[in-house]
Amino acid sequence: MITWLLLFSLFRQSTQDGQGEGVLRCGPQNVTLDYDSFLLKWEDDPSCSVIRDGLVYELQLLIADKPEHNGEVVVAPAQIGSTHSWKWTSHLPSQCARHSVRLRSQYNNQSSPWMQKTLPDQGEILVLPRDQILEVGSTATFCCMVPDGESIKTMFLYDYKGTNVTTTKISEHVHSLTVHLDQESENYSDVICETTKGDINGASFHTSYPPDDSDLKCETRDLESIDCFWNVGRAANEHPAMERTYQLQGSSCINGRSGKCSQKVKLDAAERNWTLTATNRLGKLEIHDNADLTKRVHLVAPDKVAASTVNPRNISLKWSWTVQKYSNLNITCQVHVSDGNSNTKTENFGVGLTAAVIKDLIPHWNYVVRVRCGTSQHFWKWGDWSKSVKICTKGDVALGATSLIEKNLNISSYTFMKNAQTAVSSNTVTLNPSTYLTVLTLIALGAVFIILSICTILCYRHRV
Ligand SMILES: *[C@@H]1O[C@H](CO)[C@@H](O)[C@H](O)[C@H]1NC(C)=O
Ligand SMILES: *[C@@H]1O[C@H](CO)[C@@H](O)[C@H](O)[C@H]1NC(C)=O
Ligand SMILES: *[C@@H]1O[C@H](CO)[C@@H](O)[C@H](O)[C@H]1NC(C)=O
Ligand SMILES: *[C@@H]1O[C@H](CO)[C@@H](O)[C@H](O)[C@H]1NC(C)=O
Ligand SMILES: *[C@@H]1O[C@H](CO)[C@@H](O)[C@H](O)[C@H]1NC(C)=O
Ligand SMILES: *[C@@H]1O[C@H](CO)[C@@H](O)[C@H](O)[C@H]1NC(C)=O
Ligand SMILES: *[C@@H]1O[C@H](CO)[C@@H](O)[C@H](O)[C@H]1NC(C)=O
Ligand SMILES: *[C@@H]1O[C@H](CO)[C@@H](O)[C@H](O)[C@H]1NC(C)=O
Repeated sequence: MITWLLLFSLFRQSTQDGQGEGVLRCGPQNVTLDYDSFLLKWEDDPSCSVIRDGLVYELQLLIADKPEHNGEVVVAPAQIGSTHSWKWTSHLPSQCARHSVRLRSQYNNQSSPWMQKTLPDQGEILVLPRDQILEVGSTATFCCMVPDGESIKTMFLYDYKGTNVTTTKISEHVHSLTVHLDQESENYSDVICETTKGDINGASFHTSYPPDDSDLKCETRDLESIDCFWNVGRAANEHPAMERTYQLQGSSCINGRSGKCSQKVKLDAAERNWTLTATNRLGKLEIHDNADLTKRVHLVAPDKVAASTVNPRNISLKWSWTVQKYSNLNITCQVHVSDGNSNTKTENFGVGLTAAVIKDLIPHWNYVVRVRCGTSQHFWKWGDWSKSVKICTKGDVALGATSLIEKNLNISSYTFMKNAQTAVSSNTVTLNPSTYLTVLTLIALGAVFIILSICTILCYRHRV
């Protein structure tokens, strides 16, 4: 009985239509419209709470007061009392026409009165669309709308040097601005609208480009992962809103803006299509590299390069690999040898190569050695150089010749050779203390020899 009374309170007799149809009191309330997303939200009137079998909202979008689009939202009994919403895709910018949306509820062949929302609300200046990301090269149209009773004074661009801007007065209450976006914005630019009363409002936009990455090249260093590189194109002047995201083979790349992405993969000896996807708010781009990565091995630097044997005229070098899988690869290595004055490069190859011999060296000489390697078959590129190591060859004991000097001058042949090397590599024979001493000693010895010879001759003559 109580329910019946309540249900009766849902309706009130219509006085206009003679057919006695009731007007539903349960209808929408607190209707809000988001201009940017075109999202309409509303609640049910409290009187709807007595409805046990759900109701239907009928919606209508009007452009220039003509119905353009219809919709329906069915509210299940459990949803009565909650917030409902309806969204449509915008037809707005093209004609800057007046937009309204209206809705009413329906229950038992009864309807509530239409509730209408027209853009803009009283007291508002509305510039649409707002917060757009637009592509350079496109043409954009913005509308400024003010409610009846107000009128627009001017509409202009702020912080965008568009060369081709036209403003059109559609009515006292509606103006449009069309701009050909022929350049990238540094930051947000604005479309400003001012009323005759001096009130101002605007809409921001940013112009940019879709991704333009190019030249994807992939390789492997350890045969268990891929490293891909590419040219990031116009990314340098990137606005936060234009952030690009990258995916390599469908998995996201953390720092793709650097133009490099690595990923663990199972490699097999087959041509594969490696794909990088770059996405930003203006578009999506796929670039490809078709390759068999077992033929694109970029070797890491040889580790722990050291001399295993040092002889006067040759050195045996050894090193190790930090990558296990190199032990199956035929590797060619370049050994770079420098004595401070001249450089030589020699090549050695072998499966899993970890050693090399350097020949034709000078005894007691300082050398700086480094090694880099590449694959012998399917050479892709040289790997990284190892760290440089200093190695000194052993003294070559041509004892007969040097021991005399060593003894007489009381210097080791090592010191002698070292001094000589220093003098040669600096290209100036400077007299450092020990060489100076050597020269003085030699002169003194020479003088003694000459004096002795003169004495001998004189003595001989005296006898004769
Ligand atoms: C909805 O509207 C009713 C009356 O019109 C008001 O009392 C209530 O506070 C409004 N609710 C919200 C969330 O605005
Ligand atoms: C609603 O009206 C239609 C015809 O307009 C009628 O066929 C239907 O039975 C009515 N439904 C109710 C619940 O009154
Ligand atoms: C300006 O825009 C109009 C229409 O969009 C176009 O026809 C015209 O060529 C443009 N002028 C310049 C200088 O870009
Ligand atoms: C770009 O605009 C935003 C908001 O308008 C501002 O916070 C930021 O500092 C601007 N950046 C530059 C580089 O001007
Ligand atoms: C790689 O794949 C893309 C799309 O899947 C295709 O368009 C492209 O032609 C492929 N490239 C090669 C060389 O197979
Ligand atoms: C390296 O030098 C040692 C002794 O000086 C000599 O016995 C050996 O044959 C040399 N090795 C090579 C590969 O020249
Ligand atoms: C390794 O590569 C070299 C140079 O290409 C070649 O001469 C040699 O036969 C290869 N060795 C093996 C075991 O494949
Ligand atoms: C040779 O030089 C060393 C120091 O360099 C010194 O101790 C030694 O006494 C010297 N010998 C002679 C024979 O002068």
